[in-house]
Amino acid sequence: MRQRRSASYGLRVLRIGVASEIKADEYRVALTPAGARELVQKGHDVLVEATAGEGSAFTDADYERAGARIVSVEEAWAESELLLKVKEPIEPEYARLREGLVLFTYLHIAADEPLTRALMESGIAAVAYETVETDDRRLPLLAPMSEIAGRLAPQAAAHFLEKPLGGRGVLLAGTPGVAPGRVVVLGGGIVGYNAAIIALGLGAQVTILERSPDRMRHLDEILSGRVSLLMSSSLQVEESIEKADVVIGAVLIPGARAPKLITRDMLGQIQKGAILVDVAIDQGGCIETARPTTHSDPVYEVDGITHYCVANMPGGVPITSTKALTNATLPYVEAIAEHGLAEAVARDPALALGVNVLDGKITYEAVAEAHGLEYRPLADVLPAGAG
Ligand SMILES: NC(=O)c1ccc[n+]([C@@H]2O[C@H](COP(=O)([O-])OP(=O)(O)OC[C@H]3O[C@@H](n4cnc5c(N)ncnc54)[C@H](O)[C@@H]3O)[C@@H](O)[C@H]2O)c1
Repeated sequence: MRQRRSASYGLRVLRIGVASEIKADEYRVALTPAGARELVQKGHDVLVEATAGEGSAFTDADYERAGARIVSVEEAWAESELLLKVKEPIEPEYARLREGLVLFTYLHIAADEPLTRALMESGIAAVAYETVETDDRRLPLLAPMSEIAGRLAPQAAAHFLEKPLGGRGVLLAGTPGVAPGRVVVLGGGIVGYNAAIIALGLGAQVTILERSPDRMRHLDEILSGRVSLLMSSSLQVEESIEKADVVIGAVLIPGARAPKLITRDMLGQIQKGAILVDVAIDQGGCIETARPTTHSDPVYEVDGITHYCVANMPGGVPITSTKALTNATLPYVEAIAEHGLAEAVARDPALALGVNVLDGKITYEAVAEAHGLEYRPLADVLPAGAG
């Protein structure tokens, strides 16, 4: 591996690029025109690749009105000092990675060795949205997508509950004199809470099964008796799903595959035509019979039970998802642009945890472990005040 200097990361970033997403079914963009205007007003030069915003209903003219310049794909990658994206670079983009560029995007490289090696070889500074983590262990750049997936889950379930679509034929809201549908949510974290409030809004009767007593106390305070809160156990899961019209899987054990809370045997106890939405599918799913599906082919049936397991649920609502994502990322973009990466990470330990690869070194321990590569603490590679 070549030795590289990190001095340029200390400079104030002036040119901020926004690249189009080329991954299949990805319609989000990493900066809205509103965000572009904030950056332009702070004196930065914003370069947006032509048509990058189209999938989220932003035109090139919208960006130009915000003061950004519309550029080619080559210019967006080659002229930027800080490049904003949504998804990880894919193989056709590897040749564009280069020393001196700070890339800020979702990376998920613990599961992607070719990309990890391409980032190392290029000498780029790769900062991952998903590993930015606050002192109290929150993941501020993942949370907005969990909120959206949670809110979408009851909406999708309500749709597929209709009889012509293979569902039981139950209206979640019920009607005067007829009981509402029953929704069971497994896991009361960000996805689970958001699923519960939308299911309540649709008029359903909602039960949340959660494992953390502290989280349950918090849910009790904020939902004040509007849902049933039950301690999650295998017996409780079995009893709860029997009468459910909809089950939403939303559990997470950080750093691990999701536990299988509903086994294949248990499907026989669920009412035919009920809907299982396994939001945790991106961590392997919490339903044994779940396998990832896409927006174009979202459901399949096992033993008379409809399974909805779309792995990128927020991708179905790119206008909302783009705005929610950029609301969360913009303060970090502003910090990197204002201070340069070295000073920005020295000022903010949450952002420092986002740096996965720098100057050919892996600076995020779990990524190094996942690939059996050497881990170098960020402070060794990028001493505070570098540059
Ligand atoms: N499919 C998608 O498009 C999509 C989008 C966003 C998030 N997700 C996934 O949704 C899942 C949930 O994410 P989150 O942000 O809500 O996580 P979170 O950490 O906020 O919540 C997870 C909750 O599950 C609880 N839990 C763990 N084990 C449990 C068990 N056995 N029984 C009941 N509860 C249990 C935890 O106590 C926690 O409250 C994750 O796997 C996440 O990756 C998927």
